[in-house]
Amino acid sequence: MQKKINGYLANYNIKEVGFAQRLGANVNDIAEIFQLIYGDHPQAEGLFEALLDQICQAHIARKESLKKRDAEKEKVGTWFLSNQLAGMSLYVDRFAGNLSGLRQKLDYFETLGVNYLHLMPIFKSPEGESDGGYAVEDFRAIEEKLGNIQDLSDLQSSMQEKGMYLMIDIVLNHTSHHHEWAKKARSGDQEFQEYFYMYEDRRIPDEMEKDMPEIFPESSPGSFIYDERMDKWVMTVFHQYQWDLNYRNPKVFVEMLANVFYYANLGVDVLRIDAPAFIWKQVGTTCQNLPEAHKLLQMIKLCVEVATPGMALLGEAIVAPAQIMEYFGKGRFATHECDFAYNATHMAVQWDALATADTRVMLAAQSELSKKPLGASWITYTRCHDDIGLGYDDHMIEQSGYTPYLHRMYMKNHYGGVQEDSPATGALFAVNPKTQDARISGSLASLCGLEKALASKNKLAIATAIQKIILMQAHCMFLGGVPVLFYGDEMGYTNDYSYLQDAGKAYDNRWMHRPVIDWKKNKKAEKEGTVEQQVFSATQRLISLRKSLDVVADLKNIDWMASHNRSVVGYERYIGEERVYFIFNFSGEVQDLTWFAFEREGKRPLELRDAWSGKSFIVGSDEEHLRCGPYEFFILS
Ligand code: GLC
Repeated sequence: MQKKINGYLANYNIKEVGFAQRLGANVNDIAEIFQLIYGDHPQAEGLFEALLDQICQAHIARKESLKKRDAEKEKVGTWFLSNQLAGMSLYVDRFAGNLSGLRQKLDYFETLGVNYLHLMPIFKSPEGESDGGYAVEDFRAIEEKLGNIQDLSDLQSSMQEKGMYLMIDIVLNHTSHHHEWAKKARSGDQEFQEYFYMYEDRRIPDEMEKDMPEIFPESSPGSFIYDERMDKWVMTVFHQYQWDLNYRNPKVFVEMLANVFYYANLGVDVLRIDAPAFIWKQVGTTCQNLPEAHKLLQMIKLCVEVATPGMALLGEAIVAPAQIMEYFGKGRFATHECDFAYNATHMAVQWDALATADTRVMLAAQSELSKKPLGASWITYTRCHDDIGLGYDDHMIEQSGYTPYLHRMYMKNHYGGVQEDSPATGALFAVNPKTQDARISGSLASLCGLEKALASKNKLAIATAIQKIILMQAHCMFLGGVPVLFYGDEMGYTNDYSYLQDAGKAYDNRWMHRPVIDWKKNKKAEKEGTVEQQVFSATQRLISLRKSLDVVADLKNIDWMASHNRSVVGYERYIGEERVYFIFNFSGEVQDLTWFAFEREGKRPLELRDAWSGKSFIVGSDEEHLRCGPYEFFILS
């Protein structure tokens, strides 16, 4: 192998020692995984060479400024664990029209304190069959209405100058049925039919569908679609216009790796790998989280570590807590698979606590979540472009004394527009009539009650809704990981029902929480006392507090407190002697928390100061309490 590598280095005239070392250190692992997955393929050898070729080409194509940034990140170590990062996820068109419009808005992010942007899919995707851009027609061409590659590059340069970080998606699991590969397949080209999963009859599809959960049971039932032109059944796990790529074919892997590198060399800091749980399929399984999917992710990670090492990987696996840990890598691959995962369990249990005023399910989830290895991190969030799934484990619900089926029913009724006296306005998404499973759509503000409160012009209800929004954001801001706000939530945007007028969106109620930003409305944030001003300035303060507290960096430095009160939950973050206690009351009633909760090894602090309200408290005896107002929280040190 070393001879081969030397050959490559000489061939490409690569003299950089760092690259040669990284290649040398990782190439055997890459070869081993490739052999394990693709060893039996007739073209395995040639395709492995193509893969090595790509690694070298990607390194050569990497701009000096990016190599410099790689080196800076390496110096810092695991740069993304820092408490200095605060993110936002947004649709470029709905936020600022297009990429150059977004570049004009960088000051807005600076004012808010956001320095990490996730641009929702920006590559070409057919109008009306787009899944918000997750049905990609061309992995290298920017959607026309958003601009072009130069605009993206300009945006990236401006962001880099301001010390901001860029995250975009790679939609790895599928392409649009309008992608060139799908078109060639449809026209009968055998080579490209092998890029997808296709079957001549229903035998295998029937077999597979027995175990494959449906992702969009209402709008796209089943996991296969019949294509008349080919007279074949094509696997479409998500929408019927999203064809699943066949990673049993090494050509698919090598081609998609080239796209990974293409994005890396655009200056992407974090690549969000969309739906990685689904990239390997096997009859007789759910076709999710299979060991081969992990191997493929590890191979991508190793290749990136060699050629474009500054780019971190986020695996968008929205799976049960025990399974999520696997995405950080196991054994010798620990922290060499995905650098980030979404803390979807925590997001969901926050909504659980808010609905029930009971934080026991949240506490029950922590034993699993705390297994995340040091060196990997979470994306923490309250809302994103997707629905809220209730996929946390049954045992977490049972441990809290609830019946899982009834508890989830309560959650769906509370947030999904069923329970009439609920303050929340949301909707059920992806209702499966066979299993009664459903997820929840709705914006942060609407789910926290702001939509109903504004409609009824009830001042107290408005104030309560705002307090809940801030509590939810605060809870995920300090938890550990990079908090990523969803655009509009920093201004309290309520649900937007205009999607119902658009045939390409009306079938998918996730659009209700994907607003079009009205900059006139956002201007109201400058006027004291408006809803926008209250939510915006609180969000801004939370971010600024996060950046001022080193204990908040994600260094596996969190302990959950025994709170002695179901409605109140607390976690302690620490570095060395420095300790900060974050206390949250998830109920609408005043709650008391005994000072005993702060005792460690027989000692408790004498006095605590709350960085949020500025108040100080003398720590009392066991019978005395910290009094928590409705939905109040404290940042005590
Ligand atoms: C991810 C995206 C979601 C999309 C799906 C299919 O889960 O977040 O929005 O529908 O992948 O690409």
